[in-house]
Amino acid sequence: MNALFPIVPPPESPLEPPLALLAELTHRCPLQCPYCANPLELERAAAELDTATWLRVLDEAAALGVLQVHFSGGEPTARKDLLQLVQGAARAGLYSNLITSGVMLDAGSLGTLADAGLDHVQLSFQDADPAQADRMGGYRDGHRRKLVVAGLIRAAGLPLTANFVVHRQNLERLPEMLRLGEEIGASRIEIAHVQYYGWSLLNRAALMPSRAQLEAANAEVAAARERLHGRVTIDYVVPDYYAARPKACMGGWARRIINISPAGLVLPCHAAETLPGFSWPNVRDVSLGDVWHADPGFTRYRGTAWMPDPCRSCDQREVDWGGCRCQAFALLGDAGATDPACALSPSHHLMADAVLEADQPAPDLIYRRIRTAALVR
Ligand code: SF4
Ligand code: FES
Repeated sequence: MNALFPIVPPPESPLEPPLALLAELTHRCPLQCPYCANPLELERAAAELDTATWLRVLDEAAALGVLQVHFSGGEPTARKDLLQLVQGAARAGLYSNLITSGVMLDAGSLGTLADAGLDHVQLSFQDADPAQADRMGGYRDGHRRKLVVAGLIRAAGLPLTANFVVHRQNLERLPEMLRLGEEIGASRIEIAHVQYYGWSLLNRAALMPSRAQLEAANAEVAAARERLHGRVTIDYVVPDYYAARPKACMGGWARRIINISPAGLVLPCHAAETLPGFSWPNVRDVSLGDVWHADPGFTRYRGTAWMPDPCRSCDQREVDWGGCRCQAFALLGDAGATDPACALSPSHHLMADAVLEADQPAPDLIYRRIRTAALVR
């Protein structure tokens, strides 16, 4: 080492304000999707944050530098105060996105939300085939209702993203899904392979696509991007299990996003509640700014100082930030390990083992049964 010019690691990128707030308003949901990424234990309606606290949170988020709020769930339209929350987001200057199954919306509610300042709607579809879609969502006539709601969203003047979660049981209809997104006037189509967290991990063997299915899907998406270039944007989320490098989950732990659970826990991602050894703060007791800058859970895996090998010395460490902490815990029991989705991880063989499930007959789906009564506060 040169004594005059010692080798020092490059400075880590400075902490920026969070870009987005993921507001999980409720876990209540009329659908029962087997690929739901919400935790195994859902929050009860009685434990949900009240309106005044959410409004304070929206103001604090804007003051912290957050630009977008995504109202999600569960089904966010199950909250009777959604309109007030959308108004609060608009007052705070936040770009608001409603992530919804759509089945509880109608022309009146959509018009009111648009007038209140809602900026965008992301509408989920389970399939392009109505019978298969209703089977997967566990909701009779849901697909037809979604098509109606898509028209109402456009009629209300709101930009629309059509979201399709894909897996081994619907990938053969990917061309129809892309066509459907185009037909309903979506400006963006999101094709997202199932991510295996929470409930969806229980159904992994029933949902894991084969490599042949994945390769066909990649080609289909590439062709659609070319065909729809300049008219419709296609986002494509590939499955970790076939990747050689992990995704930068949430843009890096506690770097881009703040997630708030229905009961008010402030989290770096929606699955962080599954990690043991953390005491997550509740927004009822703390400010978002304090959590973002100093909470021990947020700083625990932020940046690169926590990283074990091989991440510690890897030139990708500030690109993918070591992958997903929740996946490392779910598969290895160690949230501080390199994500096994990385081919450099000593546990990468677990991904290859799981992929073999796709060659076996699909087991029955395990549905998320949420009592309809739970939708009533
Ligand atoms: Fe990313 Fe770590 Fe793999 Fe490098 S070793 S590519 S930093 S997960
Ligand atoms: Fe928690 Fe990836 S879902 S870090």
